[in-house]
Formats: sequence, C-alpha cells, structure tokens
Amino acid sequence: MKPYQKEGVLKDGSRVILRPMVKEDREKLLEFFRGLDEKDLLFLRSDVRDPAVIDRWVNNIDYRRAFPLLAEAGGRIVGDGTLHMRLMGWKRHVGNVRVVVAKEYQGKGLGTLLINELVELAGEYGLEKLVAEIHLQAHSALAAFKRAGFSTKAVFEDLVKDLTGRSSDLVVMVCDVEGRDRRAPES
Ligand SMILES: CC(C)(COP(=O)(O)OP(=O)(O)OC[C@H]1O[C@@H](n2cnc3c(N)ncnc32)[C@H](O)[C@@H]1OP(=O)(O)O)[C@@H](O)C(=O)NCCC(=O)NCCS
Repeated sequence: MKPYQKEGVLKDGSRVILRPMVKEDREKLLEFFRGLDEKDLLFLRSDVRDPAVIDRWVNNIDYRRAFPLLAEAGGRIVGDGTLHMRLMGWKRHVGNVRVVVAKEYQGKGLGTLLINELVELAGEYGLEKLVAEIHLQAHSALAAFKRAGFSTKAVFEDLVKDLTGRSSDLVVMVCDVEGRDRRAPES
C-alpha cells in the first residue's frame, strides 16, 4: 500500500491525523477501546476490550479485505473507522463501513470525517455501494452517516437489543459511492 497520512481539522479547530492501522498500534488500540463507555460498546460487533481481539486484528492486517483507518491526536488514537470488502462474489462491489470515536472527541465532526474518508477510499478500491448497519438508538451514528451521504434503505424491527435487553430496530443505510449527496459539515 502506498504511504497514506492526512490531516483533518475538526469543528472546534483541533487537528487529527488520519492514517491506516499498523501492527505497532496494539497498545494504543487497547487504550482507546478501554476508554469507551458501555453504551458505545453495545453498538460495536466485537469485544474490543479483549486483547485477543486486538491481537487478531493487528496480526492479520489485509488492507484489501478490511481497511482500518485511525484518527490520532497527541499520540493517542481517538477514532477508528473500517471499510470491509469482499474480493469476489455477488457483493464484491459492496463495502461495509463501521466507525467509533472516543467520547471526548464526539460531536466535533470526527465520525463524519472518518466516514467521508472511507467513502473516498471505497471509490479508489472500485466499490460502488457502501452499507452501514446501525442500531436505531445510535443517534449520532445515524446523523453522521446521513451527513456523509448515506440514506436509510431498510429497517429491521425488533432485530437487535438495547443496553437493558429490550428489543430495538436495526437501520440499514446505503451510500452510492459515485453519486452520493454529501452535506457540508456545520461548524
Ligand atoms: C457514531 C460516532 C462514531 C459518531 O462520531 P462523532 O464524532 O460524534 O460524529 P460527528 O460529530 O461527525 O456527528 C455526530 C452527529 O450526531 C449528532 N448528534 C449527537 N448526539 C445526537 C443525538 N442524541 N440525537 C441526534 N443527533 C445527535 C450531532 O449533532 C452530529 O450531527 P451533525 O453533524 O448533523 O450536527 C460516535 O457517536 C460513536 O463512536 N458511537 C459509538 C459507536 C457507534 O455507534 N458506531 C456506529 C456503528 S457503525
């Protein structure tokens, strides 16, 4: 992969570095994921507080299957977005996007910045559509994906659970990589 590093400016003027995850990020990732609260953890697919999960990720990096994009500030990881791809099959033009941001960096536009960057990357990888599966109660995620050009295509009623174990809906958002209607960030 060609060297890749970008600087992003957030709504409050603070700066982050966007770069791919590398093997050496293990400790920083553990620290980042340990800092997330229970509510945010609920919306993630893996048990990111388990060092074995992080080991599996950093020891098996394959940017053609999963491109993990990190946001770093002051030497700490403050955001993580991933573009998941398939090399073959009927969904080979479809990618999946997941994103998580550190509590103290939320609401500053970082989630949207990461999603926008992953959509750009998806275009470079030749993907045509992107899908995000979002818990109905993940309000910021719904807003961030919408701002980045995703729109709701399906709602699966009562498919997922909330923190108390009550059933909730799963929202499937889709983005057309070439023709997306992306809104400018508000300051
Ligand atoms: C989803 C997530 C990455 C968003 O990160 P972020 O840096 O806060 O995102 P942004 O600041 O770019 O955008 C957040 C948007 O949510 C809005 N928002 C925040 N709280 C909200 C609420 N309670 N209800 C509705 N909208 C809300 C913000 O106003 C902003 O929208 P705007 O840009 O139109 O003003 C972050 O909340 C997170 O890590 N959540 C836990 C993990 C998760 O849910 N991931 C999604 C699964 S793929």
